[in-house]
Amino acid sequence: MAIAIKTEQEIQLMRESCRLLADVFQNLEKAVRPGISTMEINILGDQLIRQHGCIPNFFHYNGYPASICVSVNDEVVHGIPRKNHILHEGDIVSLDAGLIYKGYHSDMARTFAVGQISQEAQRLIDATRQSFFEGIKMARAGNHLHEISNAIDAYIKTFGYGIVRDLVGHGIGTHLHEEPQIPNFAQFKRGPKLRAGMTLCIEPMINMGRADVEWLDDDWTVVTEDGSWSAHYENTILVTEGDPEILTLY
Ligand code: MF3
Ligand code: CO
Repeated sequence: MAIAIKTEQEIQLMRESCRLLADVFQNLEKAVRPGISTMEINILGDQLIRQHGCIPNFFHYNGYPASICVSVNDEVVHGIPRKNHILHEGDIVSLDAGLIYKGYHSDMARTFAVGQISQEAQRLIDATRQSFFEGIKMARAGNHLHEISNAIDAYIKTFGYGIVRDLVGHGIGTHLHEEPQIPNFAQFKRGPKLRAGMTLCIEPMINMGRADVEWLDDDWTVVTEDGSWSAHYENTILVTEGDPEILTLY
C-alpha cells in the first residue's frame, strides 16, 4: 500500500477534524489539576468530542475501553482511565486522543504538569516537545521520511533520554493508522520520499531513563521498564511543497 496523498477537499476535512481536536485539548488542559481522576478526564474529553458532533476514534479501537488515553508518570501511553486513579501535585500526565469528523481522523497528544512539578520532569516535557519540532523541520516534500526520525533522535541524544522504539508515529486520514510508520529513532535507510498532501502523526515518546517499555496485565498500559517517567508529544501534520502545516496546534 502506498502512502495516501490527500486531495484539497480531503485536506480541508482533515484541517477541520484537527481544529476541533485541538479545541478539545485546550479544554482538557484546563481540567488537569491535583485531585481529578483519570476517568473524569476521559469523561470530559468524550463529552467535548461528542459536543462537536464527532466520534472519539480511540473508543473500542482494538478493544480499547475509553475515549482518551491517560498515562501518568512512568506510564508511557495507552493508560486506561480509572475512577480511583487520582492525579497528585507533582505528577505528569500524558493525554492522547483523536476524533473522526466527516470520516476524517485526527490524533494528538500532550504531557501536562499536575500543579508544580520538578525541574527534571519539566525538562523531559520540554525536550519531548522540542524533539517534535526538530523532526517536523524535515517534513517537506522531496525530503525522505527517515530524516524526521533521525532529527528527533539526534536532538534527544543530547539529553541522554531513552527514545521508545516499540511504538511509532503513523500516517492518518480515513483511518487512524495509515502508512507509513514513523519511528522516533535513527534509521539506516532513508525511507519513502515525502510528498505534498501526506498527512502524518509525528509522536515522540521519551523516557527519562532507559528506552525499554513493557505492557501491564491490562494489555494496554505501556510503562517504562525501569520506572522512569515518560513524556509524549504528538500532532497531526500536513506535508506541503513549503513549510509543513501543524493541523492540531492550539
Ligand atoms: N494514540 C495512539 C496513536 O497515536 C493510538 C491509541 S489507540 C487506543 O497512534 F486504542 F489506545 F486508543
Ligand atoms: Co498517533
